[in-house]
Amino acid sequence: MLELNGKRILLGITGGIAAYKAAELVRLLRRSNAEVQVVMTKAATEFITPLTLQTLSGRTVRQDFFDANDEATIGHIDLARWADLILIAPATADFMARLAHGRANDLLSTLCLATTAPIALAPAMNRQMWLNPATQTNASLLQTRGVTLWGPAEGEQACGETGPGRMLEPAALLSQAVKQFSHQPLAGQSVLLTAGPTQEPIDPVRFIGNRSSGKMGFALAQAFIETGAQVHLIAGPVTLATPRGATRIDVATAHEMQQQVSAHLSRCNIFVACAAVADYRPETVAAEKIKKSREQLALTLIKNPDILAEVAASATPPFTVGFAAETEQLIKHAQEKRRLKRVDMIAANLVGAEQGGFERDENALTVLWEGGRKELPMARKEKLAQSLAATIIERYYAKKHPTENP
Ligand code: PMT
Repeated sequence: MLELNGKRILLGITGGIAAYKAAELVRLLRRSNAEVQVVMTKAATEFITPLTLQTLSGRTVRQDFFDANDEATIGHIDLARWADLILIAPATADFMARLAHGRANDLLSTLCLATTAPIALAPAMNRQMWLNPATQTNASLLQTRGVTLWGPAEGEQACGETGPGRMLEPAALLSQAVKQFSHQPLAGQSVLLTAGPTQEPIDPVRFIGNRSSGKMGFALAQAFIETGAQVHLIAGPVTLATPRGATRIDVATAHEMQQQVSAHLSRCNIFVACAAVADYRPETVAAEKIKKSREQLALTLIKNPDILAEVAASATPPFTVGFAAETEQLIKHAQEKRRLKRVDMIAANLVGAEQGGFERDENALTVLWEGGRKELPMARKEKLAQSLAATIIERYYAKKHPTENP
């Protein structure tokens, strides 16, 4: 039973009678080879002792911001980053209410606010409490924000009533966790992509553009959706259909693209810059259509912001992937770009003439990262995108999970 091989599960336990089942859950998760970090609310400790869970999980149970050695070992933000999944089992009505309202009044609720990991709740409460419109509204609100509910089940309750509100059994929670990770390696993770060209206006009817069709970036968006990621696609002017499940934001200029990237950056885990962003734009944009009155017309161009480099240089950068479109010396120029822009990975393609790259349905990529390289031979962009997404995911987790424990 090694289905959860190395996955890091932060198990939050809140104060309900079902908390006693958390011991069995920890045991099953550990048997599946997950790393388990238990975080308990104060009320949970009335139902099961931290010592029991510490013994089963092999890690010090966290209860408070101010646990002994806390700041010396791992702070709450690092704990939030550590998790691949936050599972709250049992999740009481009170905890759901606090989560729905963005409270950060104990360690567990704060971790939930600070994490980019997927959050799953296993509700456990009296059936009337579960059916109460306040709880139902909180449950719906949480689901619209991407929180997953596992259960509750129906049946006999500790209070003697029968109905919905029982926590799913530990074995059922384990299989939900396995399902979460098995086919969808990026479940609950967020990917931000740029795609297509930018258009830099010269006057009301003319612009500086390029030959990008958006096909490569849109295929990548589709490939990431298939891995379970939440995908935001910032698209330059293209006529392609939006991949089902992606949130698309249309822009025209590099400046607009930069603004939208920055607006969506904070919760993204992986950023992929596939757009062919204009490096320069006209310094001034004529208010009226420029007349054909002169023999020569000089345009002064000024530099656009480098979106990719800005993302990589941000305070807490996501895993950052750039593209390099080159007409010669592919690897040399791509390596230079990777180092200069300080990105985790770069996907290099030859463009122009008979090459793939722009506009065509096929492309080939050489993917480069520090100390590594992978060739993705000429293939349809849909297929190529799947291979590239798989390579990105592999490197993303390799970076996220260096071998040491938190
Ligand atoms: O859209 P298609 O027709 O399918 O074509 C696909 C593609 C050829 C456009 C794509 O595979 C590709 O190579 N995209 C990157 C194009 C590009 O602008 O490359 P570059 O080498 O000039 O830029 C390097 C990287 O910096 C890119 O990730 C680019 O998005 C980014 N960049 C560049 C300039 C800038 N001002 N901001 C940026 O973020």
